[in-house]
Amino acid sequence: TESEKSHLLAAIRNVPDYPKPGIQFKDITTLLNNPEAFHFLMDHLVKRYADMDIQYIAGIESRGFIFGAALASLLRTRFVPIRKPGKLPYTTISEKYSLEYGVDEVELHIDAFSHGLAHPRVLLIDDLIATGGTANAAVNLINKAGGECVEACFIINLTFLRGDEAIKKTTPVYSVLEID
Ligand code: PRP
Ligand code: MG
Repeated sequence: TESEKSHLLAAIRNVPDYPKPGIQFKDITTLLNNPEAFHFLMDHLVKRYADMDIQYIAGIESRGFIFGAALASLLRTRFVPIRKPGKLPYTTISEKYSLEYGVDEVELHIDAFSHGLAHPRVLLIDDLIATGGTANAAVNLINKAGGECVEACFIINLTFLRGDEAIKKTTPVYSVLEID
């Protein structure tokens, strides 16, 4: 319900001017530090994804690991980390994306989805979508690795940045909370 969602939103701390002046940082550590709020969130995600035949959950480093790994265990699916460059030890595939200044990259183990499924159904999860650059690259990476990204899930969507627009062309997007 809307009231439950407003409680969840209230569990997220807003930190003004971090990491730069003018940015309102959404701090999810207060949500993690609140057992009722954290449980409510995970329960909500379990209800949404329990019957969607998800085979893998891919979480984006680092805050996407927290929610993604917890959800994978609850849903009894596999968990796959999408990491920043140079962090994964085995052979990787990578996807570059542009930032306001410069480029960044995400990586995935080449054999992350190699369990004999023709089109493994993958749920992408991260704590937040801002410009959408990271998540869009992650969706491309999942597809490159032979996965089918069935949905991209975010705890928070900063909707005023329209970061979900590019992803929505190919992949359904679900956000628990929208901040405008
Ligand atoms: C933040 C956030 C998302 C990403 C969203 O992660 O957790 O992963 O930025 O930004 P975008 O939509 O503009 O691409 P950050 O890179 O700060 O790293 P962290 O999760 O390791 O803290
Ligand atoms: Mg992140």
